Amino acid sequence: MSKLWGGRFTKETNKLVEKFTASISFDQKLAREDISGSLAHVQMLGECGIIPMEDAEKIKEGLLSIKKLAENDQIEFLIEDEDIHMNIERLLIEKIGPVGGKLHTGRSRNDQVATDMHLYLRTKTTELIHLVENVQQAIMNQSKEHVHTFIPGYTHLQRAQPVSFAHHLMAYFWMFERDKERLIDSLKRVNWLPLGSGALAGTTFPINREKVAELLGFETIYPNSMDAVSDRDFILEFLSIGSIIMTHISRLSEEFVLWSSQEFQFIELDDSFCTGSSIMPQKKNPDVPELLRGKTGRTYGNLLGLLTVLKGLPLAYNKDLQEDKEGMFDTVETLEGSLMLLAPMIETMTIKKENMKKAIHHDFSNATDIADYLVRKGLPFREAHEIIGKLVLYAIQEQKFLLELAFAEFQQFSSLFEEDIYEVLSPEQVVAARNSFGGTSPLQVIEQIKLAEKKLL
Ligand code: ARG
Repeated sequence: MSKLWGGRFTKETNKLVEKFTASISFDQKLAREDISGSLAHVQMLGECGIIPMEDAEKIKEGLLSIKKLAENDQIEFLIEDEDIHMNIERLLIEKIGPVGGKLHTGRSRNDQVATDMHLYLRTKTTELIHLVENVQQAIMNQSKEHVHTFIPGYTHLQRAQPVSFAHHLMAYFWMFERDKERLIDSLKRVNWLPLGSGALAGTTFPINREKVAELLGFETIYPNSMDAVSDRDFILEFLSIGSIIMTHISRLSEEFVLWSSQEFQFIELDDSFCTGSSIMPQKKNPDVPELLRGKTGRTYGNLLGLLTVLKGLPLAYNKDLQEDKEGMFDTVETLEGSLMLLAPMIETMTIKKENMKKAIHHDFSNATDIADYLVRKGLPFREAHEIIGKLVLYAIQEQKFLLELAFAEFQQFSSLFEEDIYEVLSPEQVVAARNSFGGTSPLQVIEQIKLAEKKLL
């Protein structure tokens, strides 16, 4: 089959070259965007009198019928036509005749493909914003139920201070809130229109880029044609935001894996979100959070891959840029799949309150509070820290927790201790006492949830 660009050539393309350079196997995902871009372009060509209006109308009709075919998966894409742009143009010419060849007036695949990618990311980013928000909603629903459920809080994965379980979960709400803000902010830059830049230097035709921008809903037009066809920083930005989102998902997943282990037993994931073992009948494995954690790696790979593709490219378009697509599609799909599973997994998990309670009553995570107690009696914090360190060591040797020590034992360590020491020691009191803004006391957590509710769109 002769190529749309075949005029200058005397030989058929080597079949291996054809296969190696083609992008149609993956860029067919851009069919809808490619057609939208073409519809706007041809409308503008007609309105500006660059091609006759009746030709523009014929082309539009042809494009709309191809759009229908694409929506019903009825197009047979050909590797000989290399990419989505030439597949659609070929189909158009087959359908409406040589007039279809007027579509590519004043345009290049270079500004065309960049436009397709902007359109695609705009749609996907908008959808992802809602998926992130669904996860936030799931976190919020669980948190509201568990303001007064307490678990050990950890640093270095060692028990540190008890916290409200809602406080722990809500930490992720805010991470996802910033992710959502980043996605929303990135739309500003996704909304720059490349079309009208031609191959690299603009076009000799009197085009109207404002018109195209208006038809396609772009806010800004790339003011430099070479920049427009060469850069993919808007995709880098997306891949980087996607990687950050997956980092947050991965950390939360790690907590679910730990908490659902026999060693913690703080939560149980719903049966419908777990899988079994082919050999060990007793197993219920947290495959979903494990895979969420595991899939994070590929999104980092996609970011690094594109950074590397771009770093040495001279202006303007280079075929290397075709490598921008698969990683982007993969990150979009990974995010969609992950966020869609995460929300219901959070909603359906069972919180094992009794085990959490047992945990906070059997540790030394109230030690800071006794130090603070001595500080309130006038001792410098550093001295109080030393005394309580010794007290904890003593309690460990006596195989007792701090709440189990007799008053006389406290007094051996400092005469500042009074009977009211037992009031500050209960884990519930330890949590309630952290009543500073952003702290874990139930009062603060309730305020925090109120603030969070205002963030949901
Ligand atoms: N398939 C190409 C890509 O994805 C489209 C642009 C091709 N342009 C060119 N001058 N070969 O980048």
